[in-house]
Amino acid sequence: MANGLLKGKKGIIFGALNDKSIAWQVALKAHAEGAQFVLTNAPIAMRMGEINNLAAACGNAQIIPCDVSKDDEMQQLVSKSMEILGGKLDFVLHSVGMSMNIRKGKAYTDLDYKFMHDTLDISAISFHRLMKTLYNSDAMQNEGSILALTYIAAQRVFPDYSEMADAKSLLESITRSFGYHFGKRNKVRVNTISQSPTMTTAGSGVKGFGTFYDYAEALSPLGNADAAECAEYCISMFSDYTKKVTMQNLFHDGGFSFTGFTEDVFKIGKED
Ligand SMILES: NC(=O)c1ccc[n+]([C@@H]2O[C@H](COP(=O)([O-])OP(=O)(O)OC[C@H]3O[C@@H](n4cnc5c(N)ncnc54)[C@H](O)[C@@H]3O)[C@@H](O)[C@H]2O)c1
Repeated sequence: MANGLLKGKKGIIFGALNDKSIAWQVALKAHAEGAQFVLTNAPIAMRMGEINNLAAACGNAQIIPCDVSKDDEMQQLVSKSMEILGGKLDFVLHSVGMSMNIRKGKAYTDLDYKFMHDTLDISAISFHRLMKTLYNSDAMQNEGSILALTYIAAQRVFPDYSEMADAKSLLESITRSFGYHFGKRNKVRVNTISQSPTMTTAGSGVKGFGTFYDYAEALSPLGNADAAECAEYCISMFSDYTKKVTMQNLFHDGGFSFTGFTEDVFKIGKED
């Protein structure tokens, strides 16, 4: 169902780990819609080599490793991407998140602060680092689009989402603050998409993810949005049809965020 929505557009896509990743789906759809882009991920995430299959499926897209917590790697990524793509960028997807406290099963009431600093740096401050690098390198085309992915735990408490909730709040705040400056200078829009729970490596790493997923499914009139559907929303945000949408947190969650109660939720746990 490709419509050439991104024909001639150039970009960078962060975070495609495997074919479950939201970024993986975005890359496939961006390619189908006519975009050219560079793929990137942390060097350690590339060890399995799966990203090479994605690059091949996307017209031999170039891959540049970048740990988003490193200033020099970010600068190299942006400079090299402009060289490879032959000019400024029209779109950038930040699809990155990591929490060692969650991985190690640390309770929110007993966080390790070294881990927490890393979580905030990798999952939120990296979005500022990315935009600062793009801004100072004058790397964005006027009317370009920058997107990051977030979760509703930034607004409401989901206890097992732990410190990632704090990281997402910061991510959404950085989106508004940098969105102002990028909008004023280049008419570049900056937004977050707040996505349903999705069966990915990062998603299913959260304790109790299955219960979480079923609850959201039952509370959403349209049901949970999957990774491919999220990718379609990302493409629309990179297209020329959303030029005046900026500094927003956009819910892509089947209606979950505005639903108070459903019969389906009531039935959960009473079914056996
Ligand atoms: N899966 C969900 O339920 C869900 C829901 C809402 C939002 N999100 C967000 O979507 C985004 C993508 O996650 P996903 O669900 O596709 O999972 P994923 O595990 O496929 O992607 C997370 C990516 O972050 C990358 N990453 C981690 N540390 C990095 C670093 N230091 N430098 C560069 N990259 C690094 C990983 O290598 C991986 O590719 C994240 O921001 C996540 O919080 C996910």
